[in-house]
Formats: sequence, C-alpha cells, structure tokens
Amino acid sequence: MRRTMVAGNWKMHGTRASVAELIDGLRELALPGGVDVAVFPPLLHVSQVVDGLKGTSIQVGAQNAAVQSGQGALTGEVAPSQLIDAGCAYVLVGHSERRQLMGESDQMLNRKFAAAQASGLIPVFCVGETLEQRELGKTIEVVSRQLDSIIGELGVDAFASAVIAYEPVWAIGTGLTATPQQAQDVHAAIRAQLAEKNSEVAQGVRLLYGGSVKAANAVELFGMPDIDGGLIGGASLNADEFGAICRAAGN
Ligand code: 13P
Repeated sequence: MRRTMVAGNWKMHGTRASVAELIDGLRELALPGGVDVAVFPPLLHVSQVVDGLKGTSIQVGAQNAAVQSGQGALTGEVAPSQLIDAGCAYVLVGHSERRQLMGESDQMLNRKFAAAQASGLIPVFCVGETLEQRELGKTIEVVSRQLDSIIGELGVDAFASAVIAYEPVWAIGTGLTATPQQAQDVHAAIRAQLAEKNSEVAQGVRLLYGGSVKAANAVELFGMPDIDGGLIGGASLNADEFGAICRAAGN
C-alpha cells in the first residue's frame, strides 16, 4: 500500500524569526500515523528547520538542487550531496515556478532528477498544465510529455524512488482548486502512463495533488483513489492549517 504524504512548500517565505515560530507550531502538532509529513523551507533555512524539528517525524526537503550530485565549481548552487549532509530527504524538481520563471528546461530537470537520486535524495517531480493548455484540452498531453521526458532519459524505474506532484498551474496560489474529479482524472492518467512501462512502479509511486489545497478541501481531494496526499503552498505556512491538512490525509 502507498503511504500518504503531505508536503509543505514554503517557497520564498520566511525570516529566521518567522521560521522559528513555524517550527514551534509544527512541534506542537498531533500528526496522524501512516502519513509521511515533510516541509520544504528556503535553502537558507534548511539547517534551522532540520535542527528545530529534531525528534519529530517531520522530514525536511529542499526546493531546488544543482544539476550535479557532488560538490564543485558551481557558484550559487547547492549540491544534492550537500543537502543530504544537511539532513534533507527530498528535493522538489520541476516546480512550475522554476520551469516558467527560472526557465528550467526538461533537459535540466532530467539532470536535476538524476543528480538528486544519485545522492540519495528523493525527487518530488512536479508536472502540470497552464490554464490555456487546459482550455485547449491539452492537459493529459502536457503532463504526459513532462513525465516522458524523465522516462525517456532515465527509464520508468526512476519513479521507483520518487514522488510525483500534479500541480495545475492555474490552481497554484490562485484560490482555484481542481475539483477532486479533475485531479483524479489526471492522476489516473499518470499512473496509467507509468503502468504501460512497469505496473509495479505505477502502483507504488505516490501522486500528490497541489494547488490551493486547504483543510477545507483536503478530505475530498485525498479521498480520491489515485491521490496519495498533497503538496501544499500557502496553507503550509500556518502550522495549524497544515496540521489539519495532515490529519485529513490520515483519514
Ligand atoms: P498553493 O497551495 O499556495 O496554491 O501552492 C501550491 C504549490 O505550488 C505547492 O508547491
């Protein structure tokens, strides 16, 4: 059985003081068993969060990592091996904000995915369509192409130790959420695409939904058969709200 997962992407939010407060709030949460919980602070705050969450079951991930696993001359980047050393377990790869605003190409994402795995980090690979693409009926085509880029380069087995997050771009930070059925349809298509190559990998991989998830809509979303949890943005900056979403995943 797939374990449910709830991940909080803090994006570019926080100061040392506000992060300390959030850590305090997270430490007080009564988290359900059977749910893997992880937070993804800005790189600057990773060590503070790893130290602050010691003794809890909450794991820490990074929002980005370099295209090579080992250290080297790559100004401004952080190597996956350095993230492992700092106590990270996961890294986001292919978030739409990085694809669109930082110009990250499929080829670059393939390298980041492979480098992360080479160091022992679990990539959380993000896919999703824009509003225009959805309105043109291209949702499945777009998501399938994003997945194929990894499968073509690294093989379907790369998803045996990875997580996939479906985040429709139009639902991110907009307050618009995909309906549970809209999300389920895409998740089912993702699983079917992987199953064509390897049914064991397809059945085992966790598919998270992301895009304006809140405690109020989490139960319905997480109740769908192919939705194994969520990647939470804005709502993960509030410990109580995030805790409520984690409990929804435990139901
Ligand atoms: P919001 O939950 O703020 O819509 O963000 C979703 C997201 O991008 C998580 O990675």
